[in-house]
This record gives sequence, structure tokens and C-alpha cells, in this order.
Amino acid sequence: MSQKNSAAAKESNKNVKVIDNVSGKESNFPILTGTEGAPVIDIRKLYAETGYFTYDPGFIATGSCESKITYIDGDKGILLHRGYPIEQLAENSDFLEVCYLLLYGELPKQNQKTEFDRAITLHTMLHEQITNFYRGFRRDAHPMAIMCGVVGALSAFYHDSTDIADPHQRMVASYRMVAKMPTIAGWAYKYSLGQPFVYPRNDLEFSENFLHMMFATPCEEYKINPVIAKAMDRILILHADHEQNASTSTVRLAGSSGANPFACISAGIASLWGPAHGGANEAVLNMLNEIGNKDNIADFIKKAKDPNDPFRIMGFGHRVYKNFDPRAKIMRETCHSVLDELDIREEPLLDLAMELERIALEDEYFVSRKLYPNVDFYSGIIFQALGIPTTMFTVLFAVARTVGWIAQWNEMIEDPNQKIGRPRQLYTGSAQRDHVPISERG
Ligand code: SDX
Repeated sequence: MSQKNSAAAKESNKNVKVIDNVSGKESNFPILTGTEGAPVIDIRKLYAETGYFTYDPGFIATGSCESKITYIDGDKGILLHRGYPIEQLAENSDFLEVCYLLLYGELPKQNQKTEFDRAITLHTMLHEQITNFYRGFRRDAHPMAIMCGVVGALSAFYHDSTDIADPHQRMVASYRMVAKMPTIAGWAYKYSLGQPFVYPRNDLEFSENFLHMMFATPCEEYKINPVIAKAMDRILILHADHEQNASTSTVRLAGSSGANPFACISAGIASLWGPAHGGANEAVLNMLNEIGNKDNIADFIKKAKDPNDPFRIMGFGHRVYKNFDPRAKIMRETCHSVLDELDIREEPLLDLAMELERIALEDEYFVSRKLYPNVDFYSGIIFQALGIPTTMFTVLFAVARTVGWIAQWNEMIEDPNQKIGRPRQLYTGSAQRDHVPISERG
């Protein structure tokens, strides 16, 4: 397939010359520039031209795709969704408006917003048979295990939106995923409590519906606190998308083989679960509870700095941000507003987290490595204040990130350069050798 670049990825008049000092061969590779951020060296012909692969474990310096969805400037602590700063979206949009923006590339006009909100609302119910799927899990199953299983199984229930070559089916699957995640998450929580599932209501906004399915019971009317619903909606906005992070790259790689969208999102949920990624919000709360009080902070900072100790300050550090994660700042403000609304005057975990942040940000080890709080550092404190158990924290992250995953999945499929992802390797195993019969193996 010929190599095409979209109009946006301009071939600059610059290139990079590679001189192989063994063969003396010179090769030139074009530099592509985008709208923002680092230009890239187009190495698609590197192996054919030089016989060399690149080597970049963890993809520290590797661009896996071209994208128009999210841009992060890690040095300046900037996060843009389709060009709009996260601070402005958190202040002025609701979550479904951000979903529309991520999926379609533009902020919706009023009629488009009304139509989109209604379409999502009408997809919030789950096939009734899926309730049986939950009953196969132990009551104490981790909700993320349930999310991986139930979301992966959706292709067995919604087979009419799995043909990825059909843009209409891709759109239906996208709406279904965004709309059903709160229901799947709410039911995972109810199942863990032994309480009956609460069905979505069409008269509630997205985040109100989510809180309702999490906390309502058949015994009395559940009253939505508008401040809490607004805080939940803002938290979902802050987690919606984040460029080519581990779980989004997982979704793209799974999707590159032509796998159905539900299977791809399930793969993304599995990747997000890891404590180095979305599982960090749960790990932060567990860490703060282990630290216990401010007197113990110094010992934990010491452990985090010890190269021989695997312990790290959870919620700190980031592959891209070498400045404050802009989401962490908004999360900290939201934390204060939620605690104020709930009249929680004393939140020892928040005090502990802020003291830990203060000490770390004055410590040369963290300063020299540009380690700052990330989106996960404060979110757990808010979730706990909302009465959400730690095992549900990463589930909430998955509810929000589903729109980012599905937007990136759609973009990958529509990319003219799209092909199955198949990285190469530096092989350091045994050279070819012959089989030895077991009787001769000594
Ligand atoms: C998310 O990619 C995304 O965009 C993710 C995310 C999204 O929205 O999708 O932003 C969400 O996953 C946020 C990150 C949540 N994870 C955590 O909070 C876990 C704690 N953080 C670390 O595990 C770590 O910072 C990572 C995984 C986030 C980033 O790891 P990198 O980029 O591979 O950095 P590194 O491990 O190479 O660290 C560089 C140095 C090392 O020290 P030296 O070997 O140079 O001496 O910094 C140290 C690390 O030991 N370091 C830490 C640390 N994070 C990095 N030391 C102590 N505590 C930490 N948290």
C-alpha cells in the first residue's frame, strides 16, 4: 500500500541523514511536521533502506500514529482536546459535550447537542440477559474484572454493530459504548453490594444517571445533589482522553487487527487496570492509608527514592508531563468543592496528600526528575468522599476514558495509513540449534 500522509502531516523540506559507518551507505528520511509539538522522522523505509530496526522499549521517543484528537505539551503542562484547553472544557462544557467534541472534532451546535444527548440516553440500557453474566462472578470480584468480562461480552449481544468497515455500525457501537459504560459500572458496584441493579432513567443527565445507578435503591427516592453531579461530570471530563497512553495504544493495536470495538475497549480496560496507569488512583488511596500520618511521610519518600525499593509515590510522575498535570490542579480544586459541599471539614487524607505533595515538590530527587502530581493523585480522595469504594476508582476512570478510546479507535480505522500493528524486536535469544532427544540430555 503506498505511503500517504494526510494533508495535516506536512513533509517539511528538512530530512535526517543516516550514515552507516560500516557500509558507508547514506540514507535520508523525511521530517514530518504537525500543528503542534515535536516534528517526527518518517522511518517507514528505515529497514528497507538500512537493514536496521529502531529500538525504543516503552515507546519513549516513538510516534505510533498521526492524530487530531488530543495534544499534550508535557513541559508546559498543556492538554488540548481538538484544540480546546482542558481548563476551559472543565469550566464550560459538560461531559457529553466533550464526548461529542472528541468524536466529531467540533463543539456541537445546540441542535446537535440536544440530538446527541438524546441518542446517548436512549442507548443506556443493557440487554436483560447481561444480568445473568454478572451472576457468574463472585460477589467479591474486583469490579475491573467484571468490566473486562462484561464489555468483552457485549459483541455477543450487539452483533449488529461489529462490522468495522461500516461507518454507521461504528457510530452505533461508539454510542453504545459511551452510553452503556455507566450502567455496566453501576451494576458492577450494585452486584458487589448484593443490591438489585438500578436501571438508567431517561429523565436524568449523564452523570446524574451514573450516580443514580450507583447509589439509588428501590427502598426510597435517591436525591441527586447537583454539586456532586457537577463534580462527577467534571471528573469524567478530566479523564476523557489523553493522547497515546498505554490503554489507548492497546485499543489501537487490538483494533488494527480488525477486532470488534467491544473487544478492543475490553482490552483497553485491562491495560488501564494496571497500577502504573489507571489503577494508580486506587493505589494512591491505599498508599495514603498505609502512610497513615504526616510523621511517616519522610520514611515513604526515602523508600520512593531508593533504587532498590520498588515502592513509588503513586499519583506522582508521568511519561509526558514534566510539569504539573493540568488535570491534577483542577482535580485538587474539585476536591475542595466536594468536601465543602459535603461539609467534610476534616479530611485527614487530603491534608496528608497535600503535605506529601509539598514535601516531594521540595525534594531534589523529585525536582530533578520533574516528578509532579498527576491526574490520579487527588481523584481517589474525591471518590472516597463521594462514598465510592477504592475498588471502583479505576472503573470510573474507564467510564470516562471509553469515549477517548472509541474516538481514537475510529480515527485509526479511518486513517489511510492504517495497517495491522506489528512491532519488531532486538532478538538476544539462542542462535539456531538442533533438537536433542531427552535420552541424550544428561
Ligand atoms: C496515568 O500516559 C498517560 O497519559 C497516562 C494517564 C492518562 O490519562 O492516560 O495520564 C494516566 O496513567 C497517570 C500515571 C499514573 N501512575 C502513577 O501515578 C504511578 C506512579 N508513577 C510512576 O510509576 C511513573 O511515574 C510512571 C509510570 C507514571 C511514568 O513512568 P516513566 O515515564 O517510565 O518514568 P520512569 O519510570 O522512567 O521514571 C523516571 C525516573 C526513575 O528514576 P531513575 O531511574 O531516573 O533514577 O523517575 C523515577 C523513576 O524511578 N520515578 C519515580 C516515580 N515516577 C518516576 N520515583 C518515585 N515515585 C514515582 N511516582
